[in-house]
Amino acid sequence: MVGTTVAPAATADAGRVVRTLADAFADDPVLAWLLPSGRRAGRLTAHFRATVGGDVLGDGLSKVSPYGAVLVHPDGWRQSLLHQAGHAASYVRAFGHRLPWAVGVQAALERRHPREPHRYLSYIGVAAAGRGRGVGSALLAAVTAESDAAGLPTYLEASSPRNARLYRRHGFVTVDVVRPLGSPPLELMMRVVGG
Ligand SMILES: CC(C)(COP(=O)(O)OP(=O)(O)OC[C@H]1O[C@@H](n2cnc3c(N)ncnc32)[C@H](O)[C@@H]1OP(=O)(O)O)[C@@H](O)C(=O)NCCC(=O)NCCS
Repeated sequence: MVGTTVAPAATADAGRVVRTLADAFADDPVLAWLLPSGRRAGRLTAHFRATVGGDVLGDGLSKVSPYGAVLVHPDGWRQSLLHQAGHAASYVRAFGHRLPWAVGVQAALERRHPREPHRYLSYIGVAAAGRGRGVGSALLAAVTAESDAAGLPTYLEASSPRNARLYRRHGFVTVDVVRPLGSPPLELMMRVVGG
């Protein structure tokens, strides 16, 4: 039996969140395309250590549950240059010679964020051992309920058709499909308040 209790992610949860997301994204098509082959597990850990290392945890928006984690950002959020510079070594460790592609994809996706106020769900992952048993749905339900309470739509990029199907079940609709720098397709998806 896999528990689906959802709790706000505290700063002290950083290690657990990094491990969960690195495990969950082992087969992700977009990260597989971006990361050089070899040392994949270490590269994913470096990537998520840099991503989670900023102001992502501790404000109540991001969540953890047994086996799962979701990163959520407030309106207007952008990964600051200062943050990226502070984690430059980790990004190099993660992406190596593919770093220009990683930066380019990130910048292209940031340009596509909605202009209206919204919450941004950047990563959701459930470790392989806990998948298909409602953990991801519980995390999504908690996030969308809070967006509704705040009167804000929720925005995300789906990296596979199967993931997009899960998001559609939670009220997201596809607003565009993009392939920045020739990446595998990413569905830009939005959920209106009460969707
Ligand atoms: C996507 C993910 C967070 C869903 O969490 P979950 O706990 O498995 O989801 P639930 O049990 O609540 O719902 C199952 C649904 O999730 C989606 N899903 C996507 N990949 C899945 C997988 N490998 N195993 C099971 N479900 C998956 C499907 O829509 C599935 O429904 P289906 O069986 O009818 O196709 C999880 O599978 C995961 O971490 N996948 C790898 C990382 C990833 O792709 N993250 C999202 C990037 S946009």
